[in-house]
Amino acid sequence: MPAEKSIYDPNPAISQNAYISSFEEYQKFYQESLDNPAEFWSRVAKQFHWETPADPEKFLKYNFNISKGPISIKWMEGASTNICYNLLDRNVRNGLGDQIAYYWEGNHPDDYSRGLTYRKLLEEVCRFANVLKDHGIRKGDRVSIYMPMILELPIAMLACARIGAVHSIVFAGFSPDSLAERMFDCKAKLLITADGAWRGEKPLYLKALCDTALEKVEEMGHSVEKCIVVSHLKRVTPCQPDHVEEEIPWTDDRDYWWHEEMEDKEPACYPEWMDAEDPLFMLYTSGSTGKPKGVLHTTAGYLLYAATTFKIVFDYKPGDIYWCTADVGWITGHTYVVYGPLANGATSVIFEGTPFFPGNDRYWSVIDKYKVTQFYTAPTAIRALMKFGEGPVLKHNLSGLKVLGSVGEPINPEAWLWYYRYIGKEQCSIVDTFWQTETGGHVITPLPGATPMKPGSASFPFFGVKPTLLDECGIEIKGEGEGYLVFSQPWPGMMRTLYNNHERFEDTYFSKFPGYYCTGDGARRDADGYLWITGRVDDMLNVSGHLMSTAEVESVLTEHPRVAESAVVSRPHPVKGECLYCFITPNENEEFDQKMISELKKMVRERIGPFAMPDVIQNAPGLPKTRSGKIMRRVLRKIAVNDRNVGDTSTLADEQIVEQLFANRPVEA
Ligand code: WTA
Repeated sequence: MPAEKSIYDPNPAISQNAYISSFEEYQKFYQESLDNPAEFWSRVAKQFHWETPADPEKFLKYNFNISKGPISIKWMEGASTNICYNLLDRNVRNGLGDQIAYYWEGNHPDDYSRGLTYRKLLEEVCRFANVLKDHGIRKGDRVSIYMPMILELPIAMLACARIGAVHSIVFAGFSPDSLAERMFDCKAKLLITADGAWRGEKPLYLKALCDTALEKVEEMGHSVEKCIVVSHLKRVTPCQPDHVEEEIPWTDDRDYWWHEEMEDKEPACYPEWMDAEDPLFMLYTSGSTGKPKGVLHTTAGYLLYAATTFKIVFDYKPGDIYWCTADVGWITGHTYVVYGPLANGATSVIFEGTPFFPGNDRYWSVIDKYKVTQFYTAPTAIRALMKFGEGPVLKHNLSGLKVLGSVGEPINPEAWLWYYRYIGKEQCSIVDTFWQTETGGHVITPLPGATPMKPGSASFPFFGVKPTLLDECGIEIKGEGEGYLVFSQPWPGMMRTLYNNHERFEDTYFSKFPGYYCTGDGARRDADGYLWITGRVDDMLNVSGHLMSTAEVESVLTEHPRVAESAVVSRPHPVKGECLYCFITPNENEEFDQKMISELKKMVRERIGPFAMPDVIQNAPGLPKTRSGKIMRRVLRKIAVNDRNVGDTSTLADEQIVEQLFANRPVEA
């Protein structure tokens, strides 16, 4: 039976106790959330502390239509609060002081595991907030963070939030160049990092990478004054420190050890009351024209949305143990490792390692060790683990699981079914959560007790989100059909602007279809009203859940002195979802050889990061261009998969080139 036709009803045992326990109930709340967003979200806001309460008249003010003036989105403007206070102090006051906020599971199973209670977390956050203040960090200052998955990471974020500093986390898999570019763009005052991280067998020396990045920023004309470094590499298993090189590069008067700075600090720090619309954090995401975009999220709306989506989509109940495998350096980690779980007083697991170390059953063993009830990961991880068959799974019990989440890219029905059968034992709900760095939280997702599931469909919108499908001319597609996925009204967690570039924000998201926020993704609605995300409609691609633009990779490739031109397209990949297939035109009289291929791969690794590594680099004496010089990417995508059905090529300046490119496909491709 095609996946679209098969429907999996939620396990009645889950529905019975769920916050939203039937599809009718979902529909009722959903309708309310659209009819009267201010009232709906003001009810949600009641659980939190507001130093200055919101004026009901000003609960939501927005303009979504570029033809009527500048785009602006404001929730609860004039109200004041502090998100860190709501996540920590409020929960401690409500009696959760002794509850574990985070269990920390190291890379090696023998690493000492740590637990941090809400009370202890609050104290550590306050101490570090005092460190930041002593280093001159004030409300509104930007602090960059480049850290592994250790407990100091949420501590650093929340310390920023406590004093009103804006954190800008850069995933520690990015290269020094990428880190430098991001620190320069936001004019960071301070950088927080660690000596290194453990990935499987190897340490990764992060501080050395930071030093390179700090030099680069300096060359670009901005100085990041301070760098605070967690000493992490040597505190883990007794066996591993032997592998650590002695010297961590150090610059006096700029670099400070975290533990030394923390020593004499007060475990209390009065929170800075922030306006609801004051910035909370920025997070860079790829833009289709190359330069990364600093997506800016603000305080109150993000709190409401992170808290509500976490609670409802994972159906988190007191006593549950939740684990999200995403790195905090991506939006999934921001909202669903840190802000959402803590806003609900949840207990979570933070894991430093990889799914494959020391064996391919590491995820399953961690689930059993902590009795995880909600597990949230990416399709690429599921596909990678499926390859080892059921054996590694069956060694573990996994019976505590209730909800399984998926995020980052469309989940193919085969992976969905494997997740459902072997991990969930046909008892768990799968929530295929569609969202973006820009949306702040889930926007299209099933609810575990309410939504009958279709493998591969993200299904229906979350509360407050109004999706529409539009055709190329901006005409709404009603009922069944496929088109651009757009949203016609704001929800509290959406981005407010691009840092220092409101014009690019308006251009990128609001100009194509006036009146709508444009996701850049396509979607299809089936006869039952389910939404199926079909993937990016712009020149973006998604490799193992990492979004990147073909333009940013092309701009690195063409920096090679012997390369004249390049074109990058996406090709389906059985594990990564998509991978990069690159066409390279060498300069006149230059040889395309193995050396060039390795140099190009190295450049991509150094300039962007290892995850952007191309799978195929092929020689292209010419590129298929129209007479106006536009590269016909659809033809290149066909060549990448060796599909001769290239369609109409009559508008090409030189039709011969297509045949030549097919002939040039490398054997290994
Ligand atoms: C894709 C990650 C299909 C989509 C949270 C989106 C998905 C981009 C899904 C955002 C899903 C994310 N089904 N596609 N469940 N989740 N995507 O900003 O193309 O890193 O636009 O945020 O990932 O990636 P980002």
